[in-house]
Amino acid sequence: MSPDPSPTSATTLAPPASSGADPDLELPSVRTPLPGPRSQAWFDRADPHLTGAMADHTLVPFVEAAKRGYLIEDVDGNTFADHMSAWGSSPFGATPADVREAMNTAWDRHGMQISGWVQNIPALELAERLAAIAPGRLSRVEYSVTGTLAVEGAVKFMREASGRPLVITFGGQYHGESTYLTAGVSSDLSNVTSMRAQYVAGVLTIPYPNRFRSPFQPGPGPFDDTAVLDYLENYVLVQQIHPEQIAGLLIEPVLGEGGVHLPSQAFWDRLGALARRWGWLICLDEVQTCMGRCGEMFAMQRWTGIDPDLILLGKAFSAGGQPIAALLGTDEVMGDSELHLGSTYGFTPAACAAALAGIDRIEAGGVLDNARALEQIFLTELAPSLAEFEQVGDVRAAGALAAIEFVRDRDTIRPAPRFQVAVHQAALRRGVLGITQRGKWHYRLQPALTMPPEVFRDTCDRLRDAIAEVAANPPTERGSVLESVAEEAR
Ligand SMILES: Cc1ncc(COP(=O)(O)O)c(C=O)c1O
Repeated sequence: MSPDPSPTSATTLAPPASSGADPDLELPSVRTPLPGPRSQAWFDRADPHLTGAMADHTLVPFVEAAKRGYLIEDVDGNTFADHMSAWGSSPFGATPADVREAMNTAWDRHGMQISGWVQNIPALELAERLAAIAPGRLSRVEYSVTGTLAVEGAVKFMREASGRPLVITFGGQYHGESTYLTAGVSSDLSNVTSMRAQYVAGVLTIPYPNRFRSPFQPGPGPFDDTAVLDYLENYVLVQQIHPEQIAGLLIEPVLGEGGVHLPSQAFWDRLGALARRWGWLICLDEVQTCMGRCGEMFAMQRWTGIDPDLILLGKAFSAGGQPIAALLGTDEVMGDSELHLGSTYGFTPAACAAALAGIDRIEAGGVLDNARALEQIFLTELAPSLAEFEQVGDVRAAGALAAIEFVRDRDTIRPAPRFQVAVHQAALRRGVLGITQRGKWHYRLQPALTMPPEVFRDTCDRLRDAIAEVAANPPTERGSVLESVAEEAR
């Protein structure tokens, strides 16, 4: 694994001059090189015992001391605007008082409980509430703990209900870290998926609908993203797999880890027609996009006419409380199921109480409006950078889920993963913690749904300054993305 551009700098960067933020709002401030001396001391102590992501301090080079609203404070007194939001599972910033109170009350009353066996009021109330807000024909609830488990369960439901073996998925999606799905489908690059996990049968991956970057045509879009369905209908189903072998489709309504892509209405219309024609079930993986993240309770509500058989919930569903996930299904899929899913820790009473408080917050109003406002701010503030910087290929957002895709040049749109990581480092020095991953060429912001618009606008300014800094002296990219992936694997 080659080292990233250094995250450290002794410079303290003031908020951008154009910020114009309300002086009463606390803005992030980085006063030390990163990592600061206290963070470094913690890393030195812990490193001999750590492995994997916890042992890598280059992408998040500080140790959190506490969270306050939309800010993270590190042990050196630096503050960062939090655009990671615990990877989406802390949708209201530092867990707000109402969620904490609901959770603590349930905890005091029930402690740990296995809700699949000993029924309790928070778990039953949550199931009832989910059925009430579930879109379309969904009326049943299966309990779970993590997004990964929910997806694994969904594949079983699809197979049981249809009696068919195969599931179609879309490239660049992410469904978790179990061996089965990491192997079959993942936005993790091939250095992780096929170098580190086994292949499994039963999952067929076709390209995710993408209007900017087409697998079938060179250069930048806008492309007709239904081309992938031509490929499915005219090639895959003709040459490889008979449609009656397919149980269903597993699809993220907005591609999250894969870089915030929003399919067109035409794509959904045609996909729905194909599903009806061939008896395929539609499973929407809304683990990342549910509960307001994309400006609607469920991201699928951004379009009309999508009629899912299953929807998977996780992350923001916890409201920042405790781990929880769920599967919503139709009577046909779940009513007579003989599957044994769930988990010891599924729907613990305290987690259910927090999830209910989160739904209350969204239904009280304001949260979805704010997420939609953040979307507009991102698009407005960052759109000029498309003309300003050769390396900014595309700017996309769906509610409070936003991405910039970096390229080496605008004609070939060859990916620029090193530029992306360098922008992340430059943004960190300006007090912006976004989402990055090595080898990928899109950078994401995932703020609290409730982040004040002024703070988000200030972040966008800081991000623009970070891009300018990197564009002035861009890192050398490796020959091709495949080469960088191969290098990572060594
Ligand atoms: C769409 C999607 N599905 C499933 C998962 C896995 O969720 P978890 O990490 O809770 O297992 C994720 C996590 O990022 C996700 O984004």
